[in-house]
Amino acid sequence: MIVEDDGKQRPWPVVVVRWGKKVLGYVNECPHNSVRLDWEQNEFLDPYRIRLMCGKHGSTFELGSGRCVEGPCQGRALTPIALAVLEGDICVVGVHLVEDDASTIE
Ligand code: FES
Repeated sequence: MIVEDDGKQRPWPVVVVRWGKKVLGYVNECPHNSVRLDWEQNEFLDPYRIRLMCGKHGSTFELGSGRCVEGPCQGRALTPIALAVLEGDICVVGVHLVEDDASTIE
């Protein structure tokens, strides 16, 4: 869950990709119809396992850039999210997550 500027919370599905030595993150939302990419839970890759793929209409996206290279949303891109690897943990940065609030509650 993400916390908006007005304090409202909403689900924020993301997909994290390990691409070579890089770790990249994208909002799990297809730019074509705003649906989640995974048609089955945790299934994000095309049959060749070289691109992310939307299960609804089959658009495929470069792992390194999130750019759609084939399908109905060709030329558009997934929304990137900022990640940092801190002591081996992958952390989302620059947003306010509900978990941030939970960590301050005893
Ligand atoms: S909704 Fe993703 S390609 Fe159409």
